[in-house]
Amino acid sequence: MQQSAIAEKLSPEAFAEYLESQEKKSFLRFITCGSVDDGKSTLIGRLLFETKLIFEDQLAAVERDSKKHGTTGEDIDLALLVDGLEAERQQGITIDVAYRFFTTDKRKFIVADTPGHEQYTRNMATGASTADLAVLLVDARHGIQVQTKRHAFLVSLLGIRHVVLAVNKIDLVNFDRAKFDAIREDFDKFARSFDFDTLVAVPISARYGDNVVQKSDRLPWYDGPSLLEHLEEIEVQSDLIERPFRMPVQWVNRPNLDFRGFSGTIATGKIRPGDPVVVAGSGREAKVSKIVTMDGELPEAVASEAVTICLDREIDVSRGDILVPPAHRPEVTDQFAAHIVWMAEEEMFPGRPYLLKIGTRTVTAQVTEIKHRIDVNTFDHLAAKELGLNEVGFCNVSLSEEIAFDPYETNRDTGAFVLIDRLTNATVGAGMVWFALRRATNIHWQALDVSKASRAALKGQKPAVLWFTGLSGSGKSTIANLVEKRLHAQGRHTYILDGDNVRHGLNRDLGFTDADRVENIRRVAETSKLFTEAGMITLVSFISPFRAERRMAREMLAEGEFLEVYIDTPIEICRQRDPKGLYKKADAGELKNFTGVDSPYEAPEHAEISIDTTTGEPEDHAERIVTLLKEHGIID
Ligand code: ADX
Repeated sequence: MQQSAIAEKLSPEAFAEYLESQEKKSFLRFITCGSVDDGKSTLIGRLLFETKLIFEDQLAAVERDSKKHGTTGEDIDLALLVDGLEAERQQGITIDVAYRFFTTDKRKFIVADTPGHEQYTRNMATGASTADLAVLLVDARHGIQVQTKRHAFLVSLLGIRHVVLAVNKIDLVNFDRAKFDAIREDFDKFARSFDFDTLVAVPISARYGDNVVQKSDRLPWYDGPSLLEHLEEIEVQSDLIERPFRMPVQWVNRPNLDFRGFSGTIATGKIRPGDPVVVAGSGREAKVSKIVTMDGELPEAVASEAVTICLDREIDVSRGDILVPPAHRPEVTDQFAAHIVWMAEEEMFPGRPYLLKIGTRTVTAQVTEIKHRIDVNTFDHLAAKELGLNEVGFCNVSLSEEIAFDPYETNRDTGAFVLIDRLTNATVGAGMVWFALRRATNIHWQALDVSKASRAALKGQKPAVLWFTGLSGSGKSTIANLVEKRLHAQGRHTYILDGDNVRHGLNRDLGFTDADRVENIRRVAETSKLFTEAGMITLVSFISPFRAERRMAREMLAEGEFLEVYIDTPIEICRQRDPKGLYKKADAGELKNFTGVDSPYEAPEHAEISIDTTTGEPEDHAERIVTLLKEHGIID
C-alpha cells in the first residue's frame, strides 16, 4: 500500500508508529540475473505488483498496454511495467543499473536490476557490489545455460554468499517435479565449487505468481518456501557493524585552530569515545575524544554513518587514510594480486598507468602482469596480454604509494577498488584485492655519490629528453639526426634512442599489438630516464602512438626536462614517401597493425613544438628545435 494511503487511514500517532516500524525492519539487497526471456522483468514486476508498490495510474497504463502489446492475452503483462520504467530510465542513458525498492511487513528490499545485454559483466559488477543475495533465473524448459554459469561465477567473484535459483515458467513444463529436480542437481554440481553459504532452488511461475509471493497449490510436491518467504527469512551476514572498525577519511575538518576532526563514512564496525585508533598506513595511534555529527555528539557511531572523529592527540591524518583499531589492522602494501573486471571499450594494457581509487584514496597504478584471464563461460584460465570490455583477469598490480586494504573476501568496502582513465576520468575497471605481494624485497634504490647534477655540470649542459612522436615515415629519425648533429657540433653530450634500433635489441621480444607498443614505450621511457640521470640530452624517436604512454614518460622526468616534438606529417605524405615500403605492404594487407592504417595514432594535444614537414626543409626544422632547447634553458 502507498504510504499516503496508509497515512489517510491511520491516526498521526499510529502512522508515526508505522513509520518507525518501517525504520526498524532489516534490509535485504539482492540482484537478479537472467535475461528477459527467462522472465526477469516479469518476476520483478510480480514482486512489485504483489507487494502493492505500483502506482495505481501506472497499473492502469500497464493494463491498457498489455491488451495492446502484451504477450499474455487478457492478463496484465508485468514485464511491460518493468520494461516501461526501463525505457523511461534509459532516456537518461547513463544509468545501467536500476535499483527498485519494495517492502513487506518483515523486511525492506532493494533489488538491483541489471539489463541483460552485452555490457552484462560491467553492470553486474555495479549492481552486485552491495548485494547480499543473487536470484539466478532459469527457464524450466531450457535448464542451466552457459549464461547461468557465467552469472554464478560473477556472483561468486563479487563476493555474494547467498544464491537462489529461481526455476521459472514451471507452468510451461506442467509443474513437473522431475524437470525441476534435474535442473537443481545440474546446478548443484557446478555451483559446489563456488562454496556459496546458501543455495536454494525454488520452482516458480512469475507470470502467474506461483511460489513468487504465495506458495502455490499447483506445486504440492515442493515443500520449501516461496521466493519472497525465503527472501524475508534468510539470514545474511551483511552485518557490517560486527566487522572490525574501518573509516576511510574523506576530509580533514579544521574550521578553526581549536577544532580538528576527521570526517568520513564508517565502512564497517563501530566506534566510541575512548576507543584507540591507528592510522592504517603510518601506524600512529590516538584515542577518540569525541564523535561529532550535525545533530551533536554521539556516544557511539556505527557502519554507514557519516561522522567527524576527533582524537585526543595531534597525529598526522590526511584524506585517504583509514582509521582502524590497533588490534585489527588492514594490510598495507604497494603491490597486490586482484581480480579486475574491465569495463571500457579501450583495452587494459599492462604497463599503462591508471588511477586507482580504493576507499577515499587515489593513487597511480599499473597492472604489471595479467596472470590469467578467466573465461566467464567455462571458468577456464587463459593466457592474456590485455583485457577487453567485460573480461575478467587475475592480475598483479603495482601502486605509486602504499595503500591499506582488507582482502575483498573479508571486507567488500576496503577490498574493492576502481580503475580510472587518467585522460577521460572515466571508470574503466573494477577490482577485488586478494592478497598483498611482497616487493622484490631486497631491491632498494642505490644512492650514487656522483649525482645527476654533477654529471650534467661536467658536461656543461642540462639533461633533457626530446621526445619525437609521429607516424612511420613522418621524418622523426631524419630530423632527430640533424638535431643531434648540431648539438654534437656544439660539444653537447647526446644520444638517440630510435624505435627501429631499440627494437633490434632491448625490445626485440615486442611486436606491434597495442599491448606490445605500450610495453615498448614504457621501456624506452625508463631508458630515457636513466640517460637523463647520466646528464645526457636524449633524443627519443618512436612512433609512440598513445597519449597515455607519452604522458607517463613526461611524468617520469622532472618538470621542464621533457620536450615533446610532434612531427606532424599527414599520412598521405608518409604514404608517398614510404621510405621502407611498409605502407605499400600494409595497404595490401601484408602487414598487420600498421600505425595509421589499421592501428591508431593519437596526436599530441600539448606538444612543446609541432613541426609541419609539408613546408620547409629538414634543416630548418632541426634549427627550430635547437632554438626550442635554448628557449627552455637546456642549452645556452
Ligand atoms: S611504436 O608504435 O611502438 O612506438 P616504434 O617507433 O618502436 O613503434 O617502431 C616503429 C618502426 O617499426 C617503424 O618505423 C617501422 O619501421 C617499423 N614497423 C614494422 N611494423 C610496423 C607496424 N605494424 N606499425 C608501425 N611500425 C612498424
